[in-house]
Amino acid sequence: MKATTFTVLESLEAQAFSCTNAGSALYGSLLAGLIDDYRSGGVTAELLEGVSTTPVHDAVPLRYLATAHRLALAGAAPNLARWYGSCDGTWNGEDISTDFLHLAQTHRSEFLAGLQRNVQTNEVGRSAVLASAFALVARRHQRALDLLEIGCSAGLLSRWDEYFYDTGSSALGSPASEVRFDHSWFRTPAPDLSGDVRVARRRGSDISPIDATNAEGQLTMLSFVWPDQAERVDRLRRALAIAARTPLPITRADAGAWLAQELANGPTTAVATVVFHSIVWQYLPQSTRAMVRDALETAGELATADSPLLWLRMEPHTPQRADVRLTTWPGGHEEVLAEVGYHGTDIEWLQHY
Ligand SMILES: C[S@@+](CC[C@H](N)C(=O)[O-])C[C@H]1O[C@@H](n2cnc3c(N)ncnc32)[C@H](O)[C@@H]1O
Repeated sequence: MKATTFTVLESLEAQAFSCTNAGSALYGSLLAGLIDDYRSGGVTAELLEGVSTTPVHDAVPLRYLATAHRLALAGAAPNLARWYGSCDGTWNGEDISTDFLHLAQTHRSEFLAGLQRNVQTNEVGRSAVLASAFALVARRHQRALDLLEIGCSAGLLSRWDEYFYDTGSSALGSPASEVRFDHSWFRTPAPDLSGDVRVARRRGSDISPIDATNAEGQLTMLSFVWPDQAERVDRLRRALAIAARTPLPITRADAGAWLAQELANGPTTAVATVVFHSIVWQYLPQSTRAMVRDALETAGELATADSPLLWLRMEPHTPQRADVRLTTWPGGHEEVLAEVGYHGTDIEWLQHY
């Protein structure tokens, strides 16, 4: 019991530190007030204690914050919404913990339900580096792309070609899109986005998919973004509006089992089959990772120049940066295409051929 008490507090403190240092002064300040409430045995302790035996790993404080954000976004918490940029509010460093705690006391059932909900984001910013990689694959193999995304969440990255990318020297995507990535996303020299880049087919799967085409799913997605990160909130809202118009079937499945089934007959002829994922690997159990590798290697054996298979992934490389790797079959050659911030910013492109 003592250890659990300690780890809930530890999870709150760790979250306060990371919010303060990773771009949410609002949540950093709010969490300081929630930590005081926890220490004095208030509603924060009542609600958070016992939710998980691993509160840091399960990001219990983020579940707590997201539940309140969800109520604010839905119009059910005007006293809190007035501080949240995502709800057209303004915050100038005030202590808002009293408003938050009042909400928790008066909406216990919503908080009890919200604390059971896994934190899940789908970061649209990652599409710029993925699009750059898709352009490279299409140019190299001169084929349309057959895309399979694992851990795709709401599928916002599988819809990458609904957005527009412009490095200043080449461009890709839908020119009239309301989701746009300009040269500021790319370090120099930027990747080449030119060529005939077409998607022949796209399929996605997730162990716990979110339906971005309905209001409930959209609220869930928005609630997990920090309310004072105006650019991310705005980009997500725009991408969700696009998703609502462009339905995408997402299979609820473990990544390993799904991929084994989808690749059972090997890669399809006359297209480039690309299996991709971003910030997913760390969440997969060892058995699933083994199945993913096995499915890829087995299908890779059947790949030919006319039916190439590619494994593209953006996964953590250092505490601040991810790298983007590509393995190509036939042959199984692996290369590093890029390094990039976790949310897709500051792309350093490394492969210029
Ligand atoms: C951090 S999110 C990343 C989502 C998305 N790829 C992105 O970059 O925005 C990790 C995703 O992996 C999914 N996931 C976790 N375990 C999984 C499994 N065993 N099989 C498939 N998906 C899984 C989660 O549901 C979640 O959507």
